[in-house]
Amino acid sequence: MSSGYRFSAEDLDFLTSSVGDDLLAAAQARPLTDSSLLADLTGLRRSVGSRAQAVAETVRLRRKAVPKLGEQAARWLFTDEALQQATPWPVAQHRAARLAGHGVHDLTCSVGADLAALVPVCEPAIGSDLDPVRARMARHNLASLGVPAPVLVADALTVVSRGLLPYADPARREAGRRITSVDTLPSVADLDHVHSARLPVLRLPPGIDYEALGRPGEVEIVSLDGGAREAVLWPPELGVTSRRATVLSSTGAGFEVTSDDPDEVAKTVQPEHLVGEWLVDPDAAVVRAHLVRHYGCRHGLRQLDPHLAYLAGPRPAGVRAFRVLDSAAYSVATVTGWIRRDGTGTLEIKQRGTSVVPDELRKRMRPAMTKDTTVAHTLVVARIGDRPWAFWCRASESAP
Ligand SMILES: C[S@@+](CC[C@H](N)C(=O)[O-])C[C@H]1O[C@@H](n2cnc3c(N)ncnc32)[C@H](O)[C@@H]1O
Repeated sequence: MSSGYRFSAEDLDFLTSSVGDDLLAAAQARPLTDSSLLADLTGLRRSVGSRAQAVAETVRLRRKAVPKLGEQAARWLFTDEALQQATPWPVAQHRAARLAGHGVHDLTCSVGADLAALVPVCEPAIGSDLDPVRARMARHNLASLGVPAPVLVADALTVVSRGLLPYADPARREAGRRITSVDTLPSVADLDHVHSARLPVLRLPPGIDYEALGRPGEVEIVSLDGGAREAVLWPPELGVTSRRATVLSSTGAGFEVTSDDPDEVAKTVQPEHLVGEWLVDPDAAVVRAHLVRHYGCRHGLRQLDPHLAYLAGPRPAGVRAFRVLDSAAYSVATVTGWIRRDGTGTLEIKQRGTSVVPDELRKRMRPAMTKDTTVAHTLVVARIGDRPWAFWCRASESAP
């Protein structure tokens, strides 16, 4: 069975029936791993006949969904692609908190991850999607949470509701490294054109060239557990600042930096004077939102180079940072010397703005390393001015 199983309307009739529900519950007892799948399907065919694949796929997708969407997803219906596209639950909840109290129409609701967070706090929240299978799954998913909401099958490029704030999370087209506004389906330009009466809130890929879009309002880059997840374009009626980095974590800790925060970082430091200090690699959301200086200013950190995201100084609480043990112009011989001197067995390599390829360098360094993997060091190679500089560091744990 391919991971992209296509659910039919008949599959959904079965999966949403009480008999289907019981058989899904019974199928939970099966391993349904890649290696057991064929045998599991043979067994399932005996109890659920032609719906065996739909049942097996649903159980597998529910298992995959729980870490992303929480325990509630153990009762949801998905397609493989819809699960990949779904907004992680802490991110959906963060957006819903910003939209609380507004009437919202989720124009591209898919199976309803965002919508499930919106319905309890928005008055009202409705959803629609072009894909009838996903729209039906969304209805089921919301009902399973006890928060039923209207979900229509509709094109986001047709106005089908009045007075509600439009929200869209358009699908991503396969794109190159630089993502532009036309790389989404529907495109930003088409969505803005059709909904010009009230500009939509847009969830876009975090790597989008948001400056090129030139859209009025706020750009919010949201990260979860260190990975940038989305760039949200807030129209002027909801925008509070011009750029915001929202750093979320599954543990509930988090912070925000905005372009209204002060950005007067202390003078650039000389790299050779950094021994004993901490190097800080700001969160991806801070970097993508161009708020490195604002973040540095808040934590009393200095810039190593005006073009570099690394900062130096005291360690901000709760952030993984790197205590500098040694510092020198980068050369393979210097790094080899540090490894031999300190008996390194585990080597993490981070680089910014240089031609160093961490995996290749680690291979070259292997003969100099010991077998004691508990002796761990981090090599940070960064372009300072016009030359690569090496910092030999010990990483902190993420908690202070
Ligand atoms: C990235 S997904 C949305 C995921 C959703 N926010 C969630 O958290 O589950 C994008 C959705 O847009 C839908 N879509 C694509 N073109 C559309 C259009 N013209 N009108 C409405 N929906 C569309 C796709 O079917 C897909 O379900």
